[in-house]
Amino acid sequence: MTAQADGRPVALVTGSSRGIGRASALLFAERGHDVVVHYRREGDAAESTAKEVRAAGADALVVQGDLSETDVPGRILTETAERFGRLDVLVANAAATAFKPLLDVGTKHLDLTMRTVVQSFLLLAQGAVPLMAGRPGAIVAVSGFDSIRVVANHGLLGAAKAALEQLVRYLAVELAPRDIAVNSVLPGMVSTDSARLWADTSHPGGWEAFSAERQPDTIISPEQIAEVIAFLCTPAGRCIRGHNLIVDAGITLPFA
Ligand SMILES: NC(=O)c1ccc[n+]([C@@H]2O[C@H](COP(=O)([O-])OP(=O)(O)OC[C@H]3O[C@@H](n4cnc5c(N)ncnc54)[C@H](OP(=O)(O)O)[C@@H]3O)[C@@H](O)[C@H]2O)c1
Repeated sequence: MTAQADGRPVALVTGSSRGIGRASALLFAERGHDVVVHYRREGDAAESTAKEVRAAGADALVVQGDLSETDVPGRILTETAERFGRLDVLVANAAATAFKPLLDVGTKHLDLTMRTVVQSFLLLAQGAVPLMAGRPGAIVAVSGFDSIRVVANHGLLGAAKAALEQLVRYLAVELAPRDIAVNSVLPGMVSTDSARLWADTSHPGGWEAFSAERQPDTIISPEQIAEVIAFLCTPAGRCIRGHNLIVDAGITLPFA
């Protein structure tokens, strides 16, 4: 159970089969962490992430689980503890929702989104604390600019992310005596599967039209978001506490 308690640091990245999570998992591996790669459905994609983690010289554990289910965060952390005996970095990245106008949102959508985004973050953070004991720890949640701006069909996810950000503030205070830094990032538009799905269902002309209408440098890569997440876990980045950091290439800046 504690075989690696004094060994290499360990990062758990939820939703690391694809997108921002995958890029984060690979970056933590490059920077000397063993990595817990988590996915919900895309097992082959998760194994592909794990293969690249190992190619970077790190150990990888692949864990599966739908984070809308109440017992899944605890099970993921148990698997992490059994394999590595410690956790140094938690990146709560995975999210899922129904992209719909709020008038079309049903109680099932509401329940699933809140469980996946809000409940799982709190349960993961609670379970991560004992695994981080005795060493500096870092928890980074991945929020989104839909918490502070109105984005078509993002009302439900935006509300969940706003709740996530408030959990970040409270947890940052509550976990400071344990030397665990808690922050979030609010990505802008990032070129991933979920951004494409959103544009294809919510923007006239889909992702191709959406991205063609944007300044190229306002669409961020998953690797750029991963760099900011990783910074928040460095000794300098851990001085930032309870901050919800906008990483959006300026798209939410007011224009006078
Ligand atoms: N892309 C953007 O423009 C953007 C903007 C702002 C914020 N964000 C946020 O960034 C985070 C990552 O988004 P992304 O664009 O990188 O997404 P993505 O490429 O679509 O990947 C989503 C990841 O989350 C996992 N996942 C989805 N639903 C899950 C569930 N119920 N339980 C467990 N895992 C689940 C997926 O697993 P499987 O592969 O197994 O399905 C996958 O690994 C999300 O929190 C999202 O809200 C993204």
